[in-house]
Amino acid sequence: MTVTVAPEEALGGRAFPPGFVFGAATAAYQIEGSVDADGRGPSIWDTFSHTPGRTVRGDTGDVATDHYRRYREDVALMADLGLSAYRFSVAWPRVLPTGAGRVEQRGLDFYRRLVDELLAAGVEPWLTLYHWDLPQGLQDRGGWADRDTAERFADYAAVVVEALGDRVQHWSTLNEPMCSALLGHRSGQHAPGLQDPVAASRAVHHLLLGHGLAAGRLRAAGVGSLGITLNFTPTHPATDAPADREAARLLDGQQNRVFLDAVVRGAYPEDVVADLAAAGAPLPVRGGDLEVIAAPLDWLGVNYYFEQTVRAGTRPPEKGETSFIGGEGVVELDPEGPTTTMGWGISPGAFTRLLQWLGERAPDLPLVVTENGSAWPDEVDGEGHVHDPERVDFLVRHLAAVVDAIDAGVDVRGYFAWSLMDNFEWARGYAQRFGLVHVDYPTQRRTVKDSGHAYAAILRQHRGRG
Ligand code: FCB
Repeated sequence: MTVTVAPEEALGGRAFPPGFVFGAATAAYQIEGSVDADGRGPSIWDTFSHTPGRTVRGDTGDVATDHYRRYREDVALMADLGLSAYRFSVAWPRVLPTGAGRVEQRGLDFYRRLVDELLAAGVEPWLTLYHWDLPQGLQDRGGWADRDTAERFADYAAVVVEALGDRVQHWSTLNEPMCSALLGHRSGQHAPGLQDPVAASRAVHHLLLGHGLAAGRLRAAGVGSLGITLNFTPTHPATDAPADREAARLLDGQQNRVFLDAVVRGAYPEDVVADLAAAGAPLPVRGGDLEVIAAPLDWLGVNYYFEQTVRAGTRPPEKGETSFIGGEGVVELDPEGPTTTMGWGISPGAFTRLLQWLGERAPDLPLVVTENGSAWPDEVDGEGHVHDPERVDFLVRHLAAVVDAIDAGVDVRGYFAWSLMDNFEWARGYAQRFGLVHVDYPTQRRTVKDSGHAYAAILRQHRGRG
């Protein structure tokens, strides 16, 4: 059941603080297309999506939303929506086609043009260096399972900040290292598609080390607004039985605490260290690494989509391979109540509680919601409209959840809707639509959905108050 409410009404006239950043987010491989243009090298997502059976219907990012060529039109759309900010990622293989060594200026030029276009339109760029598209050349040398990749990532960060540091203020190192490490190396749902607990554990640590090393290079270049984006999935036991609580603890450790604690406390949670060691996949920590990883940050990027209930037991085959190291005996329950087309439940209350929990665990770090959104089966109707009442409802209720957290004293500075436009939803391909803007893939025609109009109305109202 969907309750459709006028946005102004749902927010009940309650206001976001002055200066609150309202944006939308995308990622390079999901939107750019033009995978062979201007010297770009292959990424692990090119390889993965072109491997039969890896993505729904064999979809690939070859064309995506053709943003590489249509970025001007897309920036104009952002300005029409009244976005104050845009979160995008840079494709590492455009800048360093084999991941290291030769720099491709034509790749950097694309981001220079994009950023200039954003600034001219009054939209603040928020740049993410790594949203999952590792150069295949580095994967061939071991990828994130290899410690050297962390060093190569820092070198790449230095190249990008040298090119764009004069015009981009807000920098993020990684997007969702949990997904890169665990979906990429344990369940194999994502590129590089491995099912290897040892590689997964090594990837956890090397991604974080790469973050810390890159943070050092960005600071040295004068970056003053620096963060990392982590994803969080609040996890609950199905019952109070010790085995179910243990199952929830194990998943909570790997999807919520291990990355956060390393970054904000400079220490891995002891229970997670023990879980990984017990699974024969210890974290490959060397002396001094955690000090590097805990480099001071200016904000923490929070991606939130759903919460989860788990129990102990044998995983039914339809659940597929576990994404967690030592997670073979944990079963994720199907959500109760309505779900999005991703099969994800809808829990704005859990969002507020998550933000409060983060506010306590990382008390001095401002939070920025860097992703939140929902997928629905959108279609353009005969009059050229896209009515997506479920997404309007989701958006408004999750924005209200952010206001609730702020009212409770949590320092949340911004919200980026996922996503600006429909795009290549990784292994789920183009069938999953997350956009505020609809994309008709055969024609690449963009149509602002009702949710895009609702978001624009909320932003106008906010500005009117400011
Ligand atoms: C997040 C990813 C983003 C998008 C959304 C739906 O995990 O960061 O690229 O796929 O999920």
